Amino acid sequence: MKLEQILKKKIIIEELFSIQDVVRWVSSCFSMSNLWYGHGSDNPWDEAVNLILPILGLPPYIWNRVYNSRLSIKERKIIFELVIKRIKKRIPVVYLTNKTWFCGYELYIDNRVLIPRSPISELINNKFKSIISSHNHPKYILDLCTGSGCIAIACSYLFPNAHIDAVDISLDAINVVEHNIQLHGLENRITPICSNLFNKLSKYTYDLIISNPPYVNKKDISFLPKEYSYEPKIGLISDNKGIGIIEKIISMSPFFLKKNGILICEVGDKMINIIEKYPDIYFQWINIKNGGIGIFKMENK
Ligand SMILES: C[S@@+](CC[C@H](N)C(=O)[O-])C[C@H]1O[C@@H](n2cnc3c(N)ncnc32)[C@H](O)[C@@H]1O
Repeated sequence: MKLEQILKKKIIIEELFSIQDVVRWVSSCFSMSNLWYGHGSDNPWDEAVNLILPILGLPPYIWNRVYNSRLSIKERKIIFELVIKRIKKRIPVVYLTNKTWFCGYELYIDNRVLIPRSPISELINNKFKSIISSHNHPKYILDLCTGSGCIAIACSYLFPNAHIDAVDISLDAINVVEHNIQLHGLENRITPICSNLFNKLSKYTYDLIISNPPYVNKKDISFLPKEYSYEPKIGLISDNKGIGIIEKIISMSPFFLKKNGILICEVGDKMINIIEKYPDIYFQWINIKNGGIGIFKMENK
């Protein structure tokens, strides 16, 4: 069967009734399309679930029997329009639903910020086991290049006694962070700061700096799948072949960390460039099990 044969409003309105029917149908449509997965799912079924459940106001995981619930015609029409946008315009699902979950915490997302997908989530889910001493929880944390605030918010739950500064150069991103801080009632715990890296921060303050900075080489951006074109360029591209911002973070972090403070930084595929550039620095590369490479830990001795 061809995509044009099944991608019809008449089918979803007249022939499909339950959540399960619609998830199956959307998944089939996605399978027959040339989509890129990588903004929260890696297969057509999960992509369909990620589109449909938030639109219905449901949590990301539901009991199997809820899949038998019937959808209203209005709900099916809304889902149809979004499926068309996903397939024809290749808009990532999260920008269509304006909702995602990071480490299990709900976030509001729109195209002013990158869609959260950092493998740093795995470290947070594992409570930074073997990375941060369980007897020495950080009290002052900096989430540098915070975007939606996903890392700051997840860390505020993991370290309930910590204060977190969430820094981004983009005022648009800071507005999204503020929205997410309000969503979680964390106004007293997280301070959003619009700053070019460390410019507006105080020295020797932090026990922990976590960062997922931009690290795509400008030249490579045109090779990325169309889905990435909807994300803010400032969240993806960095100068100096992708490592300009990472270099600044490495050189300036020691002035903003307390003694024995820790920097955790994601550099992805730029890991090799960083190792070559700094032969004398000891980076502890963290093993990530669920996919993703290039997160290092550095201690301020
Ligand atoms: C890769 S995104 C990461 C967002 C978020 N931490 C996450 O993991 O989804 C990088 C973020 O860095 C911000 N950024 C870029 N250059 C910056 C700079 N010089 N100072 C502070 N933030 C910067 C961008 O606006 C973007 O929100």
